[in-house]
Amino acid sequence: MPSFAAARAYNATVNLANKRFLVVGGTSGIGQATALKLASLHASISVAGRNATAGSTLVAQLSDLNPKGHHEFLPIDMTLMKDIRRFAAAYRNTYTELNGLVISAGFMTMKGRTETVEGIDQKMAVHYYGRALLIKELLPLLEAASEKGEDSRVLSIFAAGLGGPIHFEDLDLKTTYNLKTTAEATSGYNDLLVNELSIRHPSISFMHIAPGVIETPLTKNLPLYLRVPAKILAKLMANSPDECAEIMTYVLTSDQYKRGWWLLSDKGEPLKPQKYHTDEAREAVWKHTNSLIG
Ligand SMILES: NC(=O)c1ccc[n+]([C@@H]2O[C@H](COP(=O)([O-])OP(=O)(O)OC[C@H]3O[C@@H](n4cnc5c(N)ncnc54)[C@H](OP(=O)(O)O)[C@@H]3O)[C@@H](O)[C@H]2O)c1
Repeated sequence: MPSFAAARAYNATVNLANKRFLVVGGTSGIGQATALKLASLHASISVAGRNATAGSTLVAQLSDLNPKGHHEFLPIDMTLMKDIRRFAAAYRNTYTELNGLVISAGFMTMKGRTETVEGIDQKMAVHYYGRALLIKELLPLLEAASEKGEDSRVLSIFAAGLGGPIHFEDLDLKTTYNLKTTAEATSGYNDLLVNELSIRHPSISFMHIAPGVIETPLTKNLPLYLRVPAKILAKLMANSPDECAEIMTYVLTSDQYKRGWWLLSDKGEPLKPQKYHTDEAREAVWKHTNSLIG
């Protein structure tokens, strides 16, 4: 799909009535725009995040766009595995099926390793471990949709194709943590995760996408000396969340991505796996992930 305009034209042909999407990190930016776009195509949306005020404002907008759908805000803290388990158990009690799980939760910080009470670095939790756990916990709902012959897709919005060398001796970066190694590990691990999950659950589509530079509040917690140039750069070269949402909606609905595992560019086009993406890395990261998320 070469352009936003082409994605928009395709999306105009899509009807998602009676389909449910869960958008985690849907209270802002790319997730929010994607939730609104999906609702405009008649989907029902569960939005998850920490900001309940932004969540309830969004739910009102979703209801305006699709009054026949059922929309809700659900709190979740993606830094905490315990909270993700609580969230998923409640979600499984409420729903029997899920057509799309979109994970867009993320944040930027210059801080070094910052462990949660569970001993996991916050950034690695939100950008990778929490995503892996949430997907695993919601697999029964995704499987149930696919068993009915319906679409069932997972879209991790982060940094496909941008991984680096795998630190086999220190996979959670206890000793090799810095901004570069963390960004590379969480990006690469998401690539490997969609590959592994697709082998285990072939009826579900697993995608990891790099959204490109999008004008959102993502940089809001950076120091001023970085926030100002980031804002100028965004004005010069960023795409809007609405444009990005057209691409997200395209990959969530196009037949091209109905099954399998996909690493996707900002245009929603397939990327080739990197040289670091080996069977050895996939197996090691999967084993490590399971031992860490319990
Ligand atoms: N914008 C870009 O240029 C760009 C480029 C490359 C990759 N990305 C990636 O795209 C994703 C979306 O970014 P964005 O630009 O849309 O950023 P954003 O506007 O800041 O949105 C981030 C979302 O993540 C949620 N979030 C943050 N921490 C969370 C936590 N602990 N638990 C649950 N939710 C949490 C926030 O919700 P609450 O505050 O309600 O928790 C918010 O909805 C991120 O993973 C980002 O790394 C963005």
